[in-house]
Amino acid sequence: MNDYKLKILRNEKAGDGIYEMLLSRPVGVQPKGAQFIHIKLKNGARVLRRPFCICDCTDEGILICYAVVGEGTKELSQYSVGEEVEAVLPLGNGWSAEGYKRPVLLGGGMGSAVLPLVARLAGGAKPTAYLGYANKGRVVLDKLMESLCPTIVATDDGSFGRKGYITDILAEDITAGKIKPDVIFCCGPEIIYKLLLKNPAFADIPVFVSLEKRMGCGVGACLVCTCGIKTKDGVKNLRVCADGPVFDLREVIL
Ligand SMILES: Cc1cc2nc3c(=O)[nH]c(=O)nc-3n(C[C@H](O)[C@H](O)[C@H](O)COP(=O)(O)OP(=O)(O)OC[C@H]3O[C@@H](n4cnc5c(N)ncnc54)[C@H](O)[C@@H]3O)c2cc1C
Ligand code: FES
Repeated sequence: MNDYKLKILRNEKAGDGIYEMLLSRPVGVQPKGAQFIHIKLKNGARVLRRPFCICDCTDEGILICYAVVGEGTKELSQYSVGEEVEAVLPLGNGWSAEGYKRPVLLGGGMGSAVLPLVARLAGGAKPTAYLGYANKGRVVLDKLMESLCPTIVATDDGSFGRKGYITDILAEDITAGKIKPDVIFCCGPEIIYKLLLKNPAFADIPVFVSLEKRMGCGVGACLVCTCGIKTKDGVKNLRVCADGPVFDLREVIL
């Protein structure tokens, strides 16, 4: 992990209020799937860096995909090609599908941003992606995922792909025997995690989740990002930035 100056190679709209930014890749840096990047904003009044999943990493560069939700992401969306940003990467524990046979990569909304690099680095595993979005305007990264593995897309309102909540669609496909995942790796809103715990279709499948918490330092020092995790010594407050962001869902106190 290091602090780098990265050149912006692309920064364009990818959906309603969603942007993709391609950054130059520092020599020798190979992030693992589900690691993240911590970007310093140029407006010095915005002191805290902003965390984003490393969506993809190729010879072309490092891709992030971000929704504009506040002042920091709005500022990011206004940066031009050729400018430089300071960023620390790669951060977090990451996750690999290697060693599994049939992983399902499950993304809810912007949570899908963590999946392309996981699929790219899946080794001998044969992943299938299930991506759920609110509506057609919010669908992003589907083409990239399709280029990496079989991909099912759904929208809550049926305006693109299959209609319904992505957890219900995955549960339907498992129950119908269309897919037999030996692990699920998921990133999305908390409701998805609760449904994964509740629906009996997922009862026998290991589930790993990439958590999002408000972050300060991003490197394990400030304890802003802690989350209760069940360990053999009882529940411990672990740091999502340094001990995570990936945890076994059944150990997370939601
Ligand atoms: C490890 C990690 C990876 C992330 N990856 C992505 C990604 O790939 N794409 C993406 O669009 N976003 C991602 N996020 C969320 C992203 O960091 C925030 O949306 C961003 O920092 C908001 O900055 P802002 O200044 O625009 O908003 P702020 O003004 O700080 O906040 C605006 C709104 O966003 C919410 N928010 C702010 N930070 C977070 C956060 N960390 N998690 C959840 N909600 C938040 C606030 O509660 C508020 O409602 C990730 C967060 C973490 C912790
Ligand atoms: S953000 Fe500081 S410890 Fe995680």
